Amino acid sequence: MKSELELRGVQQRFHARDVPGGYLTAVDDVSFKLAAAPPQIVSLVGQSGSGKSTIARNVLGLQKPTAGTVLYGGKDIFKLNRAEYDEYRRDVQPVFQDPYAIFNPFYRVDRALWKAVKKFDLASTRAAGLELIEESLRAVRLEPENVLGRYPHQLSGGQRQRIMLARVHMLRPSFIIADEPVSMLDAQVRKHFLDILLDFQREHGMTTLFITHDLSTVYYLGGEVMVITKGQLVERGPVSTVMHQPTHPYTKLLLDSIPQPDPDQRWTTRITPDELDHLDTPTEATQPETPIL
Ligand SMILES: Nc1ncnc2c1ncn2[C@@H]1O[C@H](COP(=O)(O)OP(=O)(O)OP(=O)(O)O)[C@@H](O)[C@H]1O
Ligand SMILES: [Mg+2]
Repeated sequence: MKSELELRGVQQRFHARDVPGGYLTAVDDVSFKLAAAPPQIVSLVGQSGSGKSTIARNVLGLQKPTAGTVLYGGKDIFKLNRAEYDEYRRDVQPVFQDPYAIFNPFYRVDRALWKAVKKFDLASTRAAGLELIEESLRAVRLEPENVLGRYPHQLSGGQRQRIMLARVHMLRPSFIIADEPVSMLDAQVRKHFLDILLDFQREHGMTTLFITHDLSTVYYLGGEVMVITKGQLVERGPVSTVMHQPTHPYTKLLLDSIPQPDPDQRWTTRITPDELDHLDTPTEATQPETPIL
């Protein structure tokens, strides 16, 4: 199932009454490729409202771009035949910010894993299915007896997020599209999560598009980074190069805005509204419509 994901000239406009012209361009002529082999981690970094989640939704087929194409294995994802679409749905897996929102609170978390086993026909017997679920939970450093049989609210945010990763582990996709997956986790749990993504890359050959506004996670993951501002990609390259020799003024601004943890080196400069305009937080309606598991 090794393949390639490509955005070619993707544009996403939304109707917006308060904007001159009546629409805003959330994604503006964005093109990039993600290769399944060799597996890579590519971070997409940019401020709030820059179009990151919209790109994730385009890539996942949740939102059809107003112009341009999203290609999987060289084919437009909105024109795949049934068999190709099924393969794409398995091979490109989402991980979202708030795992609580995608679990059905009335069902034990086991159900999300069993649904994956059934939907993708991963095991022929119940015993084999359970074995697979337990193996995947251990792969994300969860003890099956500590999580199976529990309801979503009985788990921590970090545990819920790792159950989503266990689901990914079972499906072995070529691509993970992770939209701010660690934003709600504390530093230690966050590191744990990032380490699992790195394991997935090394051990199972998965490529991740990692969406974040947090440059410290980009540093930690390494690999490549793409910088987006106002719907446009302005820079792409290895993390160390982009971080140490940024070429675009926006990347420099982004780097300058990281608070220094050194108490002798206080963060004194203020970012003016002119520098970072429209820092609006998207409303709930702009968040990806995630399937309830
Ligand atoms: N369905 C929609 N209808 C109207 N406007 C939208 C819709 N989805 C997104 N937008 C707008 O498009 C722009 C980009 O939003 P997007 O959610 O992609 O940003 P983001 O980079 O993910 O931000 P954040 O870091 O806050 O998650 C924003 O101005 C947002 O308000
Ligand atoms: Mg977002």
